[in-house]
Amino acid sequence: MSQLQEEREIILGNENVDSFDFDEVREFVKGADERLFISHHFDKREKMLVQPRGGFPTYEKQFALYEFFVDANVDVLPLTIDSNTRLNDYATAKKMLRLSEANEVDMLNGYPLVNHGYRNTRKMMTHFNHPVSLRHGTPDARLLIEIAIASGIFEIEGGPITYLLPYSKNFPLDKAFLYWKYVERVCADYSALNKPINRESFGPLTATLVPPSITIVIQLLEMLLSLEEGVKSFSVSFSQQGSMIQDIVTGKVTRKLADHYAAQIGCDDASIHLVYHQWMGAFPTNRDSADQLINMSTVIASMCGADKIITKTREEAVGIPTKEANAQTVANTQYTLRILSGLPAIVDEHEEEILTAEVHAIMEAVFNDPADTLWRKVFNSIKNGIIDVPFSPHIINHNKMITIRDAQKNIRIIERGNVPIPDRCYAYEKSCCDLDKDTTSIVNDIIHDIGIMQ
Ligand code: 5AD
Repeated sequence: MSQLQEEREIILGNENVDSFDFDEVREFVKGADERLFISHHFDKREKMLVQPRGGFPTYEKQFALYEFFVDANVDVLPLTIDSNTRLNDYATAKKMLRLSEANEVDMLNGYPLVNHGYRNTRKMMTHFNHPVSLRHGTPDARLLIEIAIASGIFEIEGGPITYLLPYSKNFPLDKAFLYWKYVERVCADYSALNKPINRESFGPLTATLVPPSITIVIQLLEMLLSLEEGVKSFSVSFSQQGSMIQDIVTGKVTRKLADHYAAQIGCDDASIHLVYHQWMGAFPTNRDSADQLINMSTVIASMCGADKIITKTREEAVGIPTKEANAQTVANTQYTLRILSGLPAIVDEHEEEILTAEVHAIMEAVFNDPADTLWRKVFNSIKNGIIDVPFSPHIINHNKMITIRDAQKNIRIIERGNVPIPDRCYAYEKSCCDLDKDTTSIVNDIIHDIGIMQ
């Protein structure tokens, strides 16, 4: 038995799993309808796919949510997982599920997939027969993704960096890399049976003044870590940044460099997709303003040529959205996409050149780390601040990089810390900003910049 299979049996021997039938699951994936695979829909390239977020504790409420989404013409259904499951606390998730079932009150902020199990959940997935995307935030997602794929969920979001640095204070980063290696291998293994399982990285990170160079580097590295394990369908992503031109440039450079680095490791046979997140930062409490913001995000996603858009709702500032509000966003986004036409192709060669040079410089520094494997190089690069994510709560993150918005709301680096931003790019970034102010004014500007959409 392979080492991977041995590990899988240990993971699936978990007391919360009701006898996992490896052979039956393989047969199910092999014979699954192609419409369940988002990779199939990406290949068709018919339109930008629209995907909301959404997860309720009980089976019935999740089912009702999907009915609303389907009525609203959803392209990709979400399965958002509750936070206890994200932290591998299946016992608490189970207790809270029982309470939710007994009391009509939602005691979980998502669907506790492990407790529901794959036999039941698969009935829902095959009933709706839409592609489903697993949305979580789990550093150790080994058990979760096994149950997801066995349920008919063939897109797995996350990665060792993007599901750790924004979400966790002290979960060990080296463990996250090893746990995600397991995820990549299982996805690669199943991908040989039918259409490929799609993996998606989480580009928004902290959604707080993250400069595009850092976002892109992390997207590229998670993509490479996935492709080197055999994954054949991968989505790189980022979220609306606050400046339309910066988003267009980011989309262009992300796509170009994703193809470049995939080819460099001999993986140009993999399909790479671009995903755009509607504004992920602090939202306006005014629901009408929220609608306008959401609509603008859709227009920008079109200008970026995204393959998929992930939506927000008008209730974002308040909490988990109702199924009605969530479905309304899907319908609105589909409407905007349908009426958009004659979009201009906007190019800013200078910004593209600067951003490309920054990304190449950071990637080169990561590759030059003396460690023997890519994941160790990336691990060391985060540890020594070559990669630095603004506002990450994680103890390993350097937090030396400082960013601010320029007059056009572009995110600019005014303190690079240990990140090897080339001198000329650094000088350009700073020249875009008014830095002749005292420190207190600059700090106030940064606080203002975080809340620009409010
Ligand atoms: N249902 C719908 N949306 C959710 N989000 C988190 N949990 C759920 C859920 N159970 C959304 C938040 C935020 C994003 C990161 O995910 O509202 O927009």
